[in-house]
Amino acid sequence: MPQPAQEQINLAARALEAGRLVAFPTETVYGLGADAENPDAVARIYAAKGRPANHPVIVHLAPEADIGYWAREIPAQAHTLIQAFWPGPLTLILKRAAHIPDAVSGGQDSVGLRCPSHPVAQALLRSFKCGKGGIAAPSANKFGHVSPTTAQHVRNEFEQEIHPGGLIAAVLDGGQSEVGIESTIVDLTRLASHGPVLLRPGHISASQLEQVLGVLPAAADVAAPRASGTLDAHYAPDTPVVLIAGAQLDDCVRQLLAAGKSIALMAHQAHVLHGLPQGLAAQLQLPDEPVAYAHDLYAALRTLDLAQADVILVQALPADKAWQGVNDRLRRAAFDSREVLGKLLKTS
Ligand code: TXA
Ligand code: MG
Repeated sequence: MPQPAQEQINLAARALEAGRLVAFPTETVYGLGADAENPDAVARIYAAKGRPANHPVIVHLAPEADIGYWAREIPAQAHTLIQAFWPGPLTLILKRAAHIPDAVSGGQDSVGLRCPSHPVAQALLRSFKCGKGGIAAPSANKFGHVSPTTAQHVRNEFEQEIHPGGLIAAVLDGGQSEVGIESTIVDLTRLASHGPVLLRPGHISASQLEQVLGVLPAAADVAAPRASGTLDAHYAPDTPVVLIAGAQLDDCVRQLLAAGKSIALMAHQAHVLHGLPQGLAAQLQLPDEPVAYAHDLYAALRTLDLAQADVILVQALPADKAWQGVNDRLRRAAFDSREVLGKLLKTS
């Protein structure tokens, strides 16, 4: 795994302290960071991403950080979850301390906190403000696009913004993100009325949360705080994505080919790929196991996007809990694309 030198990490920390943006690796996906206590710097994240300014961003903390500085109430469940899963791919939504800028909380009365386990993220957090700061960072992609899991993905996303005088001062390379999908988000701000609420599924599963909390977190409801990752039509490549059950893939491919359409395809079962007709623009086999699938998912979508096909067909995944995180991301990537498929077949 590539590791930036400490000197490069220190330079990036100084750039953050000066109000500039730095992209950095985490174990989930790459983040685009800014000093969480500098509203102008946080505004630059929104500008670079093309993201609406009322969306809250997660604040990343060093393992030794004082959570009490960021949140005004820390319920017992927060301590339990922190003990079990930090550092790691879990974000907690807590009631925010009074001094947290609106730019970070999206104007809500809460703050999202996460302590990443990636060694480069931790080194950056320890160098930045001597480990006492927070780095506000959404995923380092343009708004609505696929999250980056390598430094090269970040460079591809922000070709215009990454240069000495540009919005983004540095991209730290920490190799491919191990988890591959964004952190699990648990809301602990409404415990009395709702209990813990799972705002976004991820690598840390609902049943793992249940094991340590003693209750299964509730599903996100309409009253849940806004989370941009919970919008429909999120995490999408430029090419429309269509989810198709394995048993129907062959038929679908034949119809599209007959209609003169070009197809990129990914499937997690070898037998599904083997029976298919020739002439696909691109095809990939993903692992038939949720953790490994999550690791490869976003890179695979980016690779298939490069084929510039008319459609990316994805073999639908099992519905069981183990696949919840990846199913959530794929469903959003495929938002609206049934309609796309209908159009592709009609306009032949
Ligand atoms: O794994 C991750 O969480 C990555 C890495 C970089 O840490 N970050 C990430 O950030 O996925 P982003 O901005 O793409 O998604 C963060 C999600 C958004 O859906 C945001 O709305 C939600 O967290 N969020 C942040 N603060 C919140 C708050 N105070 N209340 C509710 N949702 C919040
Ligand atoms: Mg994102």
